Amino acid sequence: MAIPDEFIQELKARTDIAEVISSYVQLKRSGRSMMGLCPFHSERSPSFSVNRENGYFHCFGCGAGGDVITFIRKIENMDYVEAVTLLAQRAGMTVPENTTDSGLGQLKVRICELNREAARFYHRQLYSEKGKEALSYLRGRGLTEKTIIHFGLGYSPSSRYELVNYLKEKGFSANEMVQANVAVKSQRGYIFDRFSDRVMFPIIDLKGQVIAFGGRIMSDVKPKYLNTSDTPVFNKSRNLFSLQLAKNKAGGRLILVEGYMDVIALHQAGFEGAVATLGTALTEEQAMLMKKYAEEVVVCYDADAAGQKATERALPLLRKAGVRVRVLRIPSGKDPDEFMRSYGEQGPARFGMLIERSGNDMDYRLSLLRSSFHLEIPEQRVEYLTRCAELLSRLENPVEQDVYLSRLAEETGVEKSAIRRLVQKESGARAKKEQRTSQRQVQLQAGGRTDRLNTEKAGRLRGANAEEALLALMLLEPDAAALIVQKLTPDGFVTSFNRRIYQVMHQRVLEGKEVSLMDLSSQLSPEEMSRLAQIADRRPRENDPLSAAGVYLGILEEERGRMTREQIASADEETLREEIERLRRKKQ
Ligand code: UTP
Ligand code: MN
Repeated sequence: MAIPDEFIQELKARTDIAEVISSYVQLKRSGRSMMGLCPFHSERSPSFSVNRENGYFHCFGCGAGGDVITFIRKIENMDYVEAVTLLAQRAGMTVPENTTDSGLGQLKVRICELNREAARFYHRQLYSEKGKEALSYLRGRGLTEKTIIHFGLGYSPSSRYELVNYLKEKGFSANEMVQANVAVKSQRGYIFDRFSDRVMFPIIDLKGQVIAFGGRIMSDVKPKYLNTSDTPVFNKSRNLFSLQLAKNKAGGRLILVEGYMDVIALHQAGFEGAVATLGTALTEEQAMLMKKYAEEVVVCYDADAAGQKATERALPLLRKAGVRVRVLRIPSGKDPDEFMRSYGEQGPARFGMLIERSGNDMDYRLSLLRSSFHLEIPEQRVEYLTRCAELLSRLENPVEQDVYLSRLAEETGVEKSAIRRLVQKESGARAKKEQRTSQRQVQLQAGGRTDRLNTEKAGRLRGANAEEALLALMLLEPDAAALIVQKLTPDGFVTSFNRRIYQVMHQRVLEGKEVSLMDLSSQLSPEEMSRLAQIADRRPRENDPLSAAGVYLGILEEERGRMTREQIASADEETLREEIERLRRKKQ
């Protein structure tokens, strides 16, 4: 059962979006809206606006937006029901009992139960006859019994039917297994185990639910690791391996490594703050997630070229998220797991020393630069200092900048004031460049050329713009909404992204319900909510909403008959002639 509409209406009446957001973001009044620094991306000047009257927020910088429920979902990393519950508590209300999320919520619960059963199954296999080789593989890599149990490691048998049969007995359907991505469907429609003859690493979220698996092959066959693809409960760019173990043990310091085995080896050696990404480069979301649990992150990627590149990519994200960063370089080209193994009993102490000696991200970058120039040669010294100045100009803290300036002056024998001027020059040049790119982004978006959400927009710009105007009117002007619903069914939309939003709104108006953003929150995805907030935010208030609606309905009708650019490109001659004929008739 979904949360009843009346409850949401009441919650809406009792919740002030600006007040809720104020406990996360400092807001200042600016005209009709309130502005602040966006909590979903990092920025220096405010582009995050909250519209109290219409109950939505929107960021011009990163495009995040939506109602107060969407805000809580995003900032607290919660699902719909959890967010509503939190807001209800705040408003002194109690969510009616036996309300769970929509059908999707049910499926999520089932998938988590299924994953837990699968993890138990894999773990048991490790101690069976079939799992013998896997168990000795893990022991051979230095893992103790305690570690194997602590991480719930397992083994997936090679038969490709055992897990499926087991889960079937436990009452799970083929669809649930496929959705959880522990099974795959063959072309003929059979399902079989996705993981076969691999050592299994369960991936567990912050609530302790098994959300995915990584499976390592024990030979040289590729791919080395097979991971769960994204499912309703798992998104690889939003989770970190072992964060659930690290978050309370880290003591304010997380260690970011590349692989599952690195995490496990470090935990076993007593470094319980170790976490890893899930087979992809670090994302902004993961960086922000780390910031929630730690003040400091030690980046400890493999010493090879790939590891160095990954470090380069991770550093700005971490700095933006606001954590202190250190970079640990392991000598002699090893990864943390190999390092621990090669030093045996001394491993932990040595690793601890490496952490203490590791410098911050600026030290790391400067030392990389330093190693590529010969400072005895004057031209190279100039080049080196110019590159350093570029780096230093990114530092916001003047004291920090000054410390490095002194160091560089001493290292190169160049006056500190001269290096400082170089840094100031770089700052100025960069500020100009940033301003230009941000202006350009706004222009591109307005032109629809880079619309990631509504991919059809570029080909149907005029129609999509009319659709957006209609959606905004639906949201802001009840009279216009009634008119639009009368004249236009969802099939009348030309882009499917906007059509889906309209479908939901259309249905509500027909049922005689309101269509403010918060009323739509349970039916639209966070992306759709963001877009809708953006559309509403860009729209000026119409003096005469009814006649405006008429104009946009007219435009949309014209656009409906028109062929898209792709259709024109692939149409045969006959069709094109007809189209030209049609357009000519219309002109007359
Ligand atoms: P590595 O190749 O460094 O492996 O990949 P590893 O973790 O050190 O594992 P061992 O020591 O060889 O057993 C680092 C991480 O990249 C992802 C996995 O998350 C892995 O832990 N990865 C790697 C994949 O997802 N797929 C692959 O085929 C390889
Ligand atoms: Mn390794």
